[in-house]
Amino acid sequence: MHIIKNPAELSAQCRAWRNAGQSICLVPTMGYYHAGHEDLMQYGRTLADKLVVSLFVNPTQFGPTEDLANYPRDHERDARIAESHGCDLLFLPDAQDMFTQDHATWVEVPKMAKVLCGVSRPIHFRGVCTVVLKLFNLTQADFAVFGEKDWQQQAILKKMTEDLNVPVCIKTRATVRERDGLALSSRNVYLSTEERRQAPAIYAGLCAAQNLVASGERHAQKIKNHVLQKWAKDIPLGRLDYLTIVDPRSLENVEYLENEALMACAVRLGKARLIDNILLTACGTQA
Ligand code: PAF
Repeated sequence: MHIIKNPAELSAQCRAWRNAGQSICLVPTMGYYHAGHEDLMQYGRTLADKLVVSLFVNPTQFGPTEDLANYPRDHERDARIAESHGCDLLFLPDAQDMFTQDHATWVEVPKMAKVLCGVSRPIHFRGVCTVVLKLFNLTQADFAVFGEKDWQQQAILKKMTEDLNVPVCIKTRATVRERDGLALSSRNVYLSTEERRQAPAIYAGLCAAQNLVASGERHAQKIKNHVLQKWAKDIPLGRLDYLTIVDPRSLENVEYLENEALMACAVRLGKARLIDNILLTACGTQA
């Protein structure tokens, strides 16, 4: 596995592969790998001749009061994991090489970025779009793989690539969960023992919403109230950031469910802000 820090070297290596007729799949990450990242890499490995994994804790997607400095990091372990999944190139840039001091260009999908997580993280998706477009430009990847836990992120990135004619095919993978339902996240390490005990109730609440829909309920507010009541009982340490039901592609608010809808949430538990989601369908759980 090549380990490359310099963006120009990444670009040159990817160009050499493409000139030799080889396709490229990119898996963008911020590291501290868990089984969810491993699933993205394993899937990415099947899509193209060359698997490129980027590991970059992107400072431009963290707000001033967020956890950039404390974000968990273990690059050596991550490199071993990436290699074990057949990664051909691990891109590990320094922040100043990705965002020079005079960096002045930003990519935004404002309407989709100001809802859900965007309400409490107003600059987050601007940072995500900008770094991901830079990675797409550097690698000219044929495919890129993202996790569905960050549903809003993948919806925004699909819109960005469509609007800007970026020649990459975005693939997504279902959320990987602990046995008790908690969505895997690098930030789960922030949870205390008691917070970790309560955390699986987040997904249990989303599943209860799906059960209500399956039994015929279609009013979004009633479905949300049902979940909020369960959470008030089962997650006493939790502080709700948002719970919403939206169109899975446009992220526009849904008040009455006709087609498939996305229930998405963010709940703060101690130092962790946990996000999760479920696709609500009339016939059964899909997320
Ligand atoms: O999902 C993440 O880990 C990050 O937002 C991403 C896509 C790697 C961009 O920094």
